[in-house]
Amino acid sequence: MLLELFITLLLIESQVLGDTSSSEEEQNSSQEHDDEHKERPSHSHHWGYHDQRSWMRSFSNCSGTSQSPIDIVTRDVIYSPSLPAIKLEGYDLTGQPELTLQNNGHTLQLQLPKTMKIVNGFDEIYLAAQLHFHWGTIEVPGSEHTIDNVHFPAELHVVHYNSKYTSIREAASKPDGLAVFGAFIRIGLHENENYENILSVIKDVSAEESNTKIPSFNVRHLLPNSLERFYRYTGSLTTPPCFQSVNWTIFNDTVTVSRKQLAALEKTLKAGHNQSLAENFRTPQNLHGRHVLASFRTTYSTRTGASPGTDTSSRTGVNNTQDGLSRGDILAIAFGALFALTLLSFCIYAYRQRQKHSKFNPDSRQNVIYKPATKEDV
Ligand SMILES: *[C@@H]1O[C@H](CO)[C@@H](O)[C@H](O)[C@H]1NC(C)=O
Ligand SMILES: *[C@@H]1O[C@H](CO)[C@@H](O)[C@H](O)[C@H]1NC(C)=O
Ligand SMILES: [Zn+2]
Repeated sequence: MLLELFITLLLIESQVLGDTSSSEEEQNSSQEHDDEHKERPSHSHHWGYHDQRSWMRSFSNCSGTSQSPIDIVTRDVIYSPSLPAIKLEGYDLTGQPELTLQNNGHTLQLQLPKTMKIVNGFDEIYLAAQLHFHWGTIEVPGSEHTIDNVHFPAELHVVHYNSKYTSIREAASKPDGLAVFGAFIRIGLHENENYENILSVIKDVSAEESNTKIPSFNVRHLLPNSLERFYRYTGSLTTPPCFQSVNWTIFNDTVTVSRKQLAALEKTLKAGHNQSLAENFRTPQNLHGRHVLASFRTTYSTRTGASPGTDTSSRTGVNNTQDGLSRGDILAIAFGALFALTLLSFCIYAYRQRQKHSKFNPDSRQNVIYKPATKEDV
């Protein structure tokens, strides 16, 4: 019985939490109205980051239920030790033909040869196509994915396509078409020499639609040192047409560049009529029940792929987890205390009633059995 009462309290808790998240949605939709005011008439090929909510009008996939990026709530990810390790081949391009670097108006993109492969980690071999970046400004950190609602200054994406398709164009819309690596870029004390392969020539592509050639280098060195710890989830392209064809891998280890290098990324490129190309990141999208797996144990993770019974669904929808206790935990403690008090008063009341009753009718004890709460019940 006590267990049932406790479950009832948990249900109340989840309703309270549900209310909070729906008010967050309301905030979002009022923002939507603001955005609609700013909006210019958009052609299907001219989309921008200032009117992200209008993407879905020209590109129906953008309103799907498996969109990217997402906020990764570290305490909700499912530890999955059976996720296959990632193994790369052909990433060292040293001595190979030059690579094309391009400002396409949305990002800084480096074309990659399909001799670069992911040979282990997925059900098929995936071939590299291109890598690109998402960033913000000095004031606004511009990663697309967030960890516990926190943005990093920038994010690297390395896009691969399933080798069973003949081209990335063909693969891009297929459910098993793409595998994209995401790595967070932070500011460190030292210049990152590997990133200089790209950033030292960024001025050459400051104009939209401009290209330049750069010497080939070891692309593995743009990724974090450790590829062992990663998150995995099913999502989409983060730009129109938002195809839901990406098996995402977001690394837990990060990359560091110097403040000056990050500033070059944030300040050099132009989009359209001399506008600066910055803040090219999409807002995190709703999970719609998707689960995020992790190849490693995150600090607060209690969920394991091996025991799906440990469902913490009452927490779903709460994404402002802080260090230490989350709002869910605080509410649980509060309700727990309230419950204990109620139980205590009930016991006292019941005990008094029984004593009062037994005075009038000494036999009543045989009919009604009150069992005082013991520690085992709680
Ligand atoms: C993503 O990759 C994992 C690991 O190989 C695989 O189990 C899963 O089915 C893939 N998901 C999709 C949608 O292709
Ligand atoms: C990496 O994992 C640690 C431990 O769970 C966590 O504290 C940290 O926020 C994670 N960082 C990223 C970028 O995932
Ligand atoms: Zn991207």
